[in-house]
Amino acid sequence: MSISNPSGRDVFSSKFGVIAAAAGSAVGLGNIWRFPYVAGENGGGAFLLIYLGFIIAIGLPVMLSELLIGRKAQQNAFGSFRKLAPGSMWSLVGLMGVVAAFLILAFYSTISGWTLEYLYQAISNGFAHGDTKAMFDSFKQGTFRPLMWQMIFMLLTAWIVFSGVKNGIEKYAKILMPLLFVLILAMCIRSLSLPGSSAGLDFLFKPDFSKISMGVILEALGQAAFSLSIGMGALITYGSYIQKQNNLGKTAVQVTVADTLIAILSGVMIFPAVFALGFQPDSGAGLVFEVLPKLFLEMPGGYFFAILFFFLLSVAALTSTISVLEVVVAYFSEELNISRKKATVIGASSISVLGVFATLSFGDLSGVHILGQSIFGIMEYTAANLLLPLGALLIVIFVGWKLKQLIVREELSNESTLRVKYFKVFFFIVKWLAPIAIAAVFLNGIGLLKLG
Ligand code: PFF
Repeated sequence: MSISNPSGRDVFSSKFGVIAAAAGSAVGLGNIWRFPYVAGENGGGAFLLIYLGFIIAIGLPVMLSELLIGRKAQQNAFGSFRKLAPGSMWSLVGLMGVVAAFLILAFYSTISGWTLEYLYQAISNGFAHGDTKAMFDSFKQGTFRPLMWQMIFMLLTAWIVFSGVKNGIEKYAKILMPLLFVLILAMCIRSLSLPGSSAGLDFLFKPDFSKISMGVILEALGQAAFSLSIGMGALITYGSYIQKQNNLGKTAVQVTVADTLIAILSGVMIFPAVFALGFQPDSGAGLVFEVLPKLFLEMPGGYFFAILFFFLLSVAALTSTISVLEVVVAYFSEELNISRKKATVIGASSISVLGVFATLSFGDLSGVHILGQSIFGIMEYTAANLLLPLGALLIVIFVGWKLKQLIVREELSNESTLRVKYFKVFFFIVKWLAPIAIAAVFLNGIGLLKLG
C-alpha cells in the first residue's frame, strides 16, 4: 500500500490507503470498548453531547493540524517539530508523544489480548453456560492466559509494523472495516429489539446535566482525543507518509465522521442490551466483555456472529496498535539512526514489559494502587486525560502561533491548487478557541483552576 518516494521514505500509494490507515488508527477499542464504558461511568447522554462538541470543535482541527505538520515536515513526530521549529523546545512535544505511545500501547495491548481470548472462546462455544460475568472475572484475574494473549498481540503488531504496513494491512482494512460496520449495525438491531431496551436509548441520548462535573468534561475531552488518535503524534507520523496531492481537509473530515459513527453505534449496540439483560451501565472496563457474549446468546446465529465480531474487533484493535507502535519506531529509527527492524524489536519489547504490569493489575497486582487507582487505571488516565489533551493543546498552539499562517494555508491547499474555504474558521479555532478550551478543561479537570 505504500511505496517509496525519491527521498527513500515510505509513502501511502493511494487516497484510499491514507483513509484506511488513518481511520484504521482512529477506529479501534477506543470506540467499541472504551467509549461505552467511559460514557456509562460518566452519566450517558450528557457525556455524549459534550463528547460530540469536543470532536467537532477540537478533535477535527487537531487532527488536521497533525496531518499538516507531518506532511510538511516529512519526519517522525519528534523530528517534525525539530524541522519546522529548529533550535527550539518544540521537539519536546514529539517526545511527549513517544512517552504517551508507550503508555497507551502498554494498556491497550492488555485489552487487545482480551479480544483474542474472546475470539477463542467464541470459536470454542465458551459463552454457552451464560454466566459471562463470572467468566470474564476469572479470565482477567488470571496470569498466564491474559499475558499470553497480550504477547501474541504485541507480536502481531510488531510483525506488521516491521513488514506489512506496506502491502498488507490497508488491503485487509479496506474489506474488514466496512464489514465491522455492517456487523455492528446488525447487533444494534438485535439489541434494540430486546424487551426493555428503550431504557438504554434513554440513557445514551437523554442528557441529564446533573451528572456533569469538571472531571466528566475532562473525561469527554480525553475520550475524544483517544478515539481520534490525536495528541501524541500518531497522525503526524502518518501525515509524513501522505503524498502532496492528497486533500488533508477531506481526509480529516472522513476519518472523524467514520470514527464518531462507530462510537455512537457501539453505544446503540451496547446500552439497550445493558438495560435489557440486567447489567449496570457503570460497571467499568469489563462492560462490553460481559454484555456482548450475552447478547450473542440471545441472537439467532449468535455463534457465528460472535466469532465474526471478536475477529473484527481484534483487527480493529490491530490497525490501531500499529499506528501507536509506528510513532515509537519512526522516532527510534530516524532519530537514533537504527534500522527499522531494530527499532521495532526495541520498541515492542520494552512496551511489552510495561504491558505486563497493566495486565497483571487485574489479577496478581490488583492490590497495588497509585493515587487511588490500579496500575492499569493510572496508565490509562495519565495517557488519555493528561498527555493527549496536553499534546493536543501544544499542537494547536504550534500551528496557530508558531507556524506562519501562509505556510499552513499552502500546506492545506496543496500549494494553492485546492480551495480551502474553511481556512479562516480553522485558523481561528487553532489560534484561539481550541487552545483556550483545552487549557480551561484541562486545568479545571485536574483541579488547578476553578471555573464554576
Ligand atoms: N484511536 C484508537 C482507538 O480509538 O482505539 C486508539 C489510539 C490509537 C489512540 C492511536 C492514540 C493513538 F495514537
